[in-house]
Amino acid sequence: MVSFQNIILQVQVMVPVNINHRMKKLLALIQVVLASLTACVVPPSHRAHAPLDEDRVGAFADTVNGKAVKLYTLRNKSGMAVEISNYGATLVSIHVPDKDGNDGNVLLGYDSIQGFYNGKSYFGCVVGRYANRIAKASFKLEGKEYHVPQNDGLNSLHGGINSIDKQVWDVRVMNDAIRLTTVSKDGDNGYPGNLKLTVVYSLRTDNSLVIDYTAVTDKPTVLNISNHAYFNLTGDPSKTILDHEIKINADAFTPVDSTLIPTGELKKVSGTPFDFTQFKKIGKDIDQQDQQLIFGKGYDHNFVLNKTTGTLPVVEVMEKTSGRKMEVFTTQPGVQFYTGNFLNGTEVGRGVAYQQRTGFCLETQQFPDAPNQTAFPSTVLKPGETWKSQTTYKFSSVK
Ligand code: BGC
Repeated sequence: MVSFQNIILQVQVMVPVNINHRMKKLLALIQVVLASLTACVVPPSHRAHAPLDEDRVGAFADTVNGKAVKLYTLRNKSGMAVEISNYGATLVSIHVPDKDGNDGNVLLGYDSIQGFYNGKSYFGCVVGRYANRIAKASFKLEGKEYHVPQNDGLNSLHGGINSIDKQVWDVRVMNDAIRLTTVSKDGDNGYPGNLKLTVVYSLRTDNSLVIDYTAVTDKPTVLNISNHAYFNLTGDPSKTILDHEIKINADAFTPVDSTLIPTGELKKVSGTPFDFTQFKKIGKDIDQQDQQLIFGKGYDHNFVLNKTTGTLPVVEVMEKTSGRKMEVFTTQPGVQFYTGNFLNGTEVGRGVAYQQRTGFCLETQQFPDAPNQTAFPSTVLKPGETWKSQTTYKFSSVK
């Protein structure tokens, strides 16, 4: 299709070098007119990378260790927009229409990049090199013992401090996608091997946000990479998520000890508060006097996903007042269902102090502490191999 941008380019190419001054002025004028026409014909909401708000672009722009931190926007023609920062490859906001077509941001986040620098709750970022926990912050790999940071009692959580979520990633902007890459150096937070990680966020016209992860290493290592987005489908993060209804396609979960390390058992959900095989309100059983819920202060557990054909969602979430629905698809074996139990009002953004259970995470993942649990699927990546995984969050609405 011939676009106005193409016409402008062609006009520029066609301009002969010896053209007289008046003619040049006329052509410049034509270019300005065509550019404004482009702006009128294609509304901002339909331009693939048009920012939601210029002030926000400024609030999320910075330089860290000589590298530019920027806010990128992906938009589609179905009313969805996603803001992404290359700091931590972070999802900053996800805007989706409700049942009446009203726009709402369904992500917990901050109002400036400083919030993400100081944040302790991993809002929207990519977590690794080992998402979730490693018991006693150590593991053995090929006979050698490795020590990683103890940042959660005696355990290691989400790769340790200043991990990939606090790095500035390199960016390539593509048509309907943003590609981010980073290298976590050999020995970074104690993990072996130079690990090259790529994350591609693609926004489809059916309101799916597809996340493709790829990793390669030059030494054997362990890895578990996930995204730590907190969702609240009402679009109003001052409300709790307890009335959201959720269905998880998992017949089992991995129970934990008091430090949230899996015991190794795969426990059937049937007859427990962890049975989400049919739609159930998140809040229905959350305060039961159940040992697992007491340990987690709510749900903070890895669900063992049933094998699906790949076309079926592994998780579905419904929020009736807004009519918003989210479906999750993944190639990963597990999902951490975390109900924001440790949010306590100290993280502030979007005009609210985020309180307990005002957001939920569905962190698709390998199983927690797998490097120490031989019965769990292996998380070892070797040189010459490419680790790939894909997770999709798909949004829709129902009246
Ligand atoms: C963990 C929680 C933790 C949260 C924020 C989740 O993935 O399972 O226990 O509080 O991340 O760090």
